[in-house]
Amino acid sequence: MTPAAAITPVWWAHDRLMLIDQTLLPAREVERACARWEDVAEAIRSLVVRGAPAIGVAAAYGVALAARASRATTVDALLADVETASKGLAATRPTAVNLFWALERVRHAGRQARGLSPDDVRARLLAEAHAIRAEDLAANQAMGAHGAALVPAHARILTHCNAGALATAGYGTALGVIRAAHAQGKVARVWVDETRPVMQGSRLTAWELVREGIPHRLIADAVAGSLMARGEVDLVVTGADRIAANGDTANKIGTYPLAVLAQHHGVPFYVAAPSSTIDPALPSGEHIPIEERDAAEVRQVGAQQTAPAESPVFNPAFDVTPARMIAAIITERGVFRPPYAFA
Ligand code: MRU
Repeated sequence: MTPAAAITPVWWAHDRLMLIDQTLLPAREVERACARWEDVAEAIRSLVVRGAPAIGVAAAYGVALAARASRATTVDALLADVETASKGLAATRPTAVNLFWALERVRHAGRQARGLSPDDVRARLLAEAHAIRAEDLAANQAMGAHGAALVPAHARILTHCNAGALATAGYGTALGVIRAAHAQGKVARVWVDETRPVMQGSRLTAWELVREGIPHRLIADAVAGSLMARGEVDLVVTGADRIAANGDTANKIGTYPLAVLAQHHGVPFYVAAPSSTIDPALPSGEHIPIEERDAAEVRQVGAQQTAPAESPVFNPAFDVTPARMIAAIITERGVFRPPYAFA
């Protein structure tokens, strides 16, 4: 069998940011072009592009687009336009720190280039976005190698949400570890949580695993506990949206209950994330802002209404898993064990 082409969710072509529209997967594979930073902001807000590292990469290109569109003839005026775009992009989603990290990196590159011409500054900003994308891909591949070493032979691995190629510049974090372990012949099966309410597991993770012929079974989120009780899960690995200095980790809603179940059943619970997901400024997870999303995500499944329109909804998109429940945090720098102290 010929290997499936690598999944590239975010790329630059013909002066535009290109995205795979993740809201349409798995039914349709549609490319979306963003010509303005406002298009990028809208794509992040509406989950056309999602997953912490992918959001950061897209936002960096958003700043580069803002600089290209700016009519400024001085560097100061150009950087003022860059600030406006950065603020707009930062206001899209609050939890994944990669967004703010990437925006700060491109803004810093712009400030460093102050002595150059406006066009050279524009070129520097785009080059920084390219660098962020390339570094993320390399980080994921390194993480895959570090994480695969933790996976035993014949492993049955449970994952939640989509921390795959689609959520990054490519290859994935948690799914990168699974990809690398699969390449070493160690994966017997991946249990894929469907991940209500937005279904990133069933729509996106399952799509990636089907493309690459990695053995998996899709499960409703409620199934994980009974699987662990029957001894059918050897490890859990998820991604992260923000990791506090003490290792407390925000990830897709439903991750914390999985960690509780894993602890109860003696199953190791791992987190895989690049250093850009670590927020050393936050001492612990209680300080991580948790996004609340639209009630429609819970009242409907797709276009189908599944609850009374009058029912009030609570729809947090993320939860926080305490560091003590995390057996290891896998980054591109290696495998970290508790007690965590990220600086
Ligand atoms: O709301 P989403 O789909 O952006 O949430 C994504 C997650 O929670 C992922 O697990 C996380 O961003 C890590 S992606 C490598």
